[in-house]
Amino acid sequence: MEKKRVLAIESSCDETAAAVVVDGREILSNVISSQIDLHTLYGGVVPEIASRKHLERINQVIQEALDQAKLTLQDIDLIGVTYGPGLVGALLVGVAEAKAISYASGIPLVGVHHIEGHICANYLQYPQLKPPFACLVVSGGHTHLVLVKDYGEYEILGHTRDDAAGEAFDKVARAIGLGYPGGPKIDKTAREGDPDAIHFPRAKIAGNAYDFSFSGLKSAVLNYLNGCSMRGESISVPDVAASFQKAVTDVLVEHAMAAVEEYGFTRLAIAGGVASNSALRTAMEEACSKKGVEFYRPAPILCTDNAAMIGSAAYYDYYVRGLRSDFTLNAVPNLRLGER
Ligand code: KG4
Ligand code: ZN
Repeated sequence: MEKKRVLAIESSCDETAAAVVVDGREILSNVISSQIDLHTLYGGVVPEIASRKHLERINQVIQEALDQAKLTLQDIDLIGVTYGPGLVGALLVGVAEAKAISYASGIPLVGVHHIEGHICANYLQYPQLKPPFACLVVSGGHTHLVLVKDYGEYEILGHTRDDAAGEAFDKVARAIGLGYPGGPKIDKTAREGDPDAIHFPRAKIAGNAYDFSFSGLKSAVLNYLNGCSMRGESISVPDVAASFQKAVTDVLVEHAMAAVEEYGFTRLAIAGGVASNSALRTAMEEACSKKGVEFYRPAPILCTDNAAMIGSAAYYDYYVRGLRSDFTLNAVPNLRLGER
């Protein structure tokens, strides 16, 4: 088969992104216009501002992705766009843009699941990687332990019952005065702290050993901070950051390794914004090497929201699974993995 070039668009949260990807594996361009500076002023993503910024930037970002790939629209075989889950107003900008380009150019269109995109980031980093493998998806909105049975075929082994891992990082960072976005700031600050200084709880969920819960951990950190303040004691921000981060990574590693053991997986991948956490990467790498499991971790630029991962997922959706979208494609803010 002739090489297929996919133009991909991602606008589900606060990054306006476009990319060109060949055959689901090779990145020709990966342009990300981040709005972080803007949302930092408010301590988190403001949905309406995110939508407006996407609208302002999306055309330039797409043009830049084509320019960097040294291509024009005439060279593109497929348009892939994230249509859920995410912020509805933000998603709508990308979906409307993708539909308009498809309509005007006649290039076919496929809507992509954002989490599926995160998983596919592993195909870009590791061109030889093929399903089946297990994948821990940890982002700002999702914490899923997934069995990737085949391209686009998933079985969810466990998920969070309350907060997502990234959400916990963001909330704790705010509480200890590190601000937004919390994950990278805790990661950095934790390097100066002692991960064993404070013992925070590691939640176990009755009913499913692979489910997660992070709201109790967040409350434990808040209680600790309140207790210190009531006693007039000062806190060590690096120690709190390191101890909290250890509590999160311990649970993530423990659950992933329990699944590896029970199901006999030989390959474990990680994905999503929290997958760029340095402590998680090190801990998971060590645990995998102890058990002789191959460990896959995309570069941080592919873990964070980007369009290249959407380009990879779009390729497999369209060319391998035969999925197509028509001009009724709409944003689905709470789209579940494996659903269309
Ligand atoms: O995948 P992503 O870019 O967007 C969503 O789909 O949610 O993930 C963003 C999340 C945020 O909660 C952010 O704080 C977290 O990923 N994150 C990190 C790190 N970098 C980003 N969490 C921990 N350590 C990091 N280095
Ligand atoms: Zn994401």
